[in-house]
Amino acid sequence: MTDGKRRVLVTGATRGLGLEIARAFAREGAAVALNGRDRDLLEAHAARLRDAGCSAAALVGDLVAEPEDIVRRTSDVLGGLDVVVHAASLRDRRPTEALDGAAFAALLDVNLTAAYRLARAALPLLQQSRAGRLIFVTSIAARIARAPDPAYTASKGGLEALTRSLAVEFGSDTLTVNAIAPGWFVTDPNRTMAEDPRVQAFVDVRIPLRRWGRPEELAPAALFLGSPAASFVNGITLTVDGGMSAQM
Ligand SMILES: NC(=O)c1ccc[n+]([C@@H]2O[C@H](COP(=O)([O-])OP(=O)(O)OC[C@H]3O[C@@H](n4cnc5c(N)ncnc54)[C@H](OP(=O)(O)O)[C@@H]3O)[C@@H](O)[C@H]2O)c1
Repeated sequence: MTDGKRRVLVTGATRGLGLEIARAFAREGAAVALNGRDRDLLEAHAARLRDAGCSAAALVGDLVAEPEDIVRRTSDVLGGLDVVVHAASLRDRRPTEALDGAAFAALLDVNLTAAYRLARAALPLLQQSRAGRLIFVTSIAARIARAPDPAYTASKGGLEALTRSLAVEFGSDTLTVNAIAPGWFVTDPNRTMAEDPRVQAFVDVRIPLRRWGRPEELAPAALFLGSPAASFVNGITLTVDGGMSAQM
């Protein structure tokens, strides 16, 4: 399936930003494994990409239960690994009073611990690539907080710090570790919010571009960080937010 193509694993590829990133890599000529838990959706997305002449496979698996196995099966299917984009995450906007320790830990299991376990399993494979690229999708919430959102905010802050730590430990001429921090993009968890006129009034004031991002506007950042061309970019978080976090 790979034929000298870049071999890419994208988590969170059943929908939203992960799906758009997977599609972008596939359209650029990579061989892409789309990971998530919803088999029907993943197989439909992969089949549609194959119908369009791309190389794509559904890679069903739960990131809390079996991240190491997801990496192993991806490498078996693709014959190695050049790029991992971890875009999967959980959202839980309950306030601190309603969010007990177990719920906090459950969110961190997906957003942070699974990222670490996935990376730990993938790094030895990425080290064998001529241009290995590990990319975490964090959030502007790693740096600017919106209440209530304690678990998600903490998880993304941790993921951004993990990006720097792994970049320092593993960065080399042939391997880099970076993050992408999206601002507000219209995807399933945000759709109701995006349709609320009161939220649009906030967007008009808080986002210099005065609008939500479209998922296809995030994918180019992943393509760049995932490319051999980004060989001297290591340990950064590339913010894609229409200027939201640049504004006072
Ligand atoms: N949308 C935004 O405005 C925004 C802003 C900042 C940051 N981000 C970040 O961008 C990334 C994508 O966001 P999104 O809005 O596109 O997300 P989304 O629509 O909520 O999709 C989440 C994805 O994560 C997967 N997932 C969740 N738990 C999993 C598990 N245990 N094992 C395997 N897969 C699992 C889901 O797959 P299944 O449904 O198949 O399980 C789904 O594909 C996330 O990291 C998010 O934090 C998004």
